[in-house]
Amino acid sequence: MADKLLKIAIDGPAGAGKSTVAKLVALRLNYLYIDTGAMYRAITYLAIQYGYNSLDYENNIAELAEAATISLENRENRLHVFVNEQDVTDVIRSPEISALVPVISQIASVRNTLVVKQRELAVNGGVVMDGRDIGTRVLPNAEVKIFLTASVEERAKRRCLELQQKGFKVDLNELKVEISERDNIDSERKIDPLIAAKDAVMLDTSYMTIQEVVDKILELCKERL
Ligand code: CDP
Repeated sequence: MADKLLKIAIDGPAGAGKSTVAKLVALRLNYLYIDTGAMYRAITYLAIQYGYNSLDYENNIAELAEAATISLENRENRLHVFVNEQDVTDVIRSPEISALVPVISQIASVRNTLVVKQRELAVNGGVVMDGRDIGTRVLPNAEVKIFLTASVEERAKRRCLELQQKGFKVDLNELKVEISERDNIDSERKIDPLIAAKDAVMLDTSYMTIQEVVDKILELCKERL
């Protein structure tokens, strides 16, 4: 009998390594990788285009999200993010968007719209989805739930390197502040806050290599097959 197609949820704060690890796990299992943070970032990008840069425009942003077409496509081994057919893969990583995305993602109707899209993408299983509320809200029945953490210091260092490689000019201390602020807003928001699901496996990756984290997750997947 063919292996069953699992749903794998990976949640955690900014810079804990979710996307790196999720991509590698998806590659190993030949599963689809779904970056839900990229979807919130794409809506934030659209909001900025329209000048909707605060919660004062909550209803307008909700309408934009409802009408938006977001797609994630693998091209030449890289996940490309499209919103209304525009490739926004690189631009959604900008500091401006990182600062505004936790604000936009507090809007209940934006979340509802995106959660529906995310569940549709996962309907057949065979997915690795990363975000903040995957194990608690989007896929509460995922067979494998991981909550990745690491110290703020370590996360800021990792993010700094990643952004420098993408050509952004960044300052480590500023990044530390940005990450901590984003963590606070994400953890304290009323709807779908950043929190580990009761049945999630906690992995502190501060002293783990990427390969060790990937192997640990694959081991957990094997137990669920
Ligand atoms: O990659 P990084 O950890 O910086 O963050 P991300 O996964 O790209 O997510 C960016 C932001 O989107 C988060 O800080 C949250 O405010 C929001 N988000 C969310 O609310 N729910 C999700 N499932 C994913 C992201």
